[in-house]
Amino acid sequence: DEELIVLGIETSCDDTAAAVVRSNGEILSQVVSSQADLLVKYGGVSPKMAEGAHSLVIDQVVQEALDKAKITEEDLSAVAVTIGPGLGLCLRVGVRKARKIAGTYALPIVGVHHMEAHALVARLVERELQFPFMALLISGGHNLLILARDIGHYIQLGTSIDDAIGEAYDKTAKWLGLDLSKSGGPALEQLALEGNQDSFKFKVPMKQHKDCNFSYAGLKTQVRLAIESKNIDATIPIASTSSEDRRVRADIAASFQRVAVLHLEDKCQRAIGWGLKIEPSIKHLVASGGVASNKYVRSRLYNMVEKNGLQLVCPPPSLCTDNGVMIAWTGIEHFRMGRYDTPPPACEPDDAL
Ligand code: KG4
Ligand code: ZN
Repeated sequence: DEELIVLGIETSCDDTAAAVVRSNGEILSQVVSSQADLLVKYGGVSPKMAEGAHSLVIDQVVQEALDKAKITEEDLSAVAVTIGPGLGLCLRVGVRKARKIAGTYALPIVGVHHMEAHALVARLVERELQFPFMALLISGGHNLLILARDIGHYIQLGTSIDDAIGEAYDKTAKWLGLDLSKSGGPALEQLALEGNQDSFKFKVPMKQHKDCNFSYAGLKTQVRLAIESKNIDATIPIASTSSEDRRVRADIAASFQRVAVLHLEDKCQRAIGWGLKIEPSIKHLVASGGVASNKYVRSRLYNMVEKNGLQLVCPPPSLCTDNGVMIAWTGIEHFRMGRYDTPPPACEPDDAL
């Protein structure tokens, strides 16, 4: 097996990321430039603004990834880049950059599916992880339960019928007046540590549905109503509220988190049953995506998976949230199987895409 060195580029959402990874699993560099300050300043990201932010830093982020890895483009075996799902305008910034490098240095290019990368990065972390395995992918835009049979061969067992869990974390954090400078999820996780998770009796979604699908829109509504009933004013930041008000907010955060994760446990439990019927040799469940960096989520999933006689594989937080390593690694997995595109023309006009 020839040693490969692959550059991975990720621009599907609001982080611009690049990384260089070796086929032996060694991470040579990892760079992430976040748009969190834009988020705070404007209370959200518009596609046009996000595209502008990616364009502004993409060259610098890629250069930094190469420099930190102590290599130049000439040392690369291939370039991998996220081609979806995500915001078209943002994806295009990464793809344009990848094609430029690939064209200039006559490198093969691998187009990567963002969610597949969240799942496959677990095989970089846990080298023993063989197919088939189960994966729970939990991010801002997606909630997926899949059975991974091989590279590029996935069976979807469940998905979100409305909002993903990360979206519910982000909205709840916003309504509780949390500091969003590092995105809502981590801030809510922190506040929940101070709260009583049994103080608000939110209903676990989709209990009566005998499937593996998720729904977080109803829980969001329950939380919003609870916040309104307690007269919480989100325009007053949590840092400036009374201790009584802060306690109520923490109770809501903890109660929300408990139910949000119970819903994950329920559906994973059922999916494991389904998965084992299809592939009795399954030994692992992978949990990945931004929300899987949450400690409470990790420990609850760990117990549930162990109880089912399987092993949980959960990448470290920096590889759960969006990153270039997972793109480079998925590029390596595909490249090894001959799945890549030949180099684009060296002098492609900039508007070719
Ligand atoms: O995978 P990711 O980085 O980007 C997408 O593909 O969407 O996931 C981002 C999501 C956001 O909703 C963010 O709030 C959430 O993951 N997240 C967390 C935590 N860290 C990130 N949610 C709960 N607890 C965390 N510690
Ligand atoms: Zn993601």
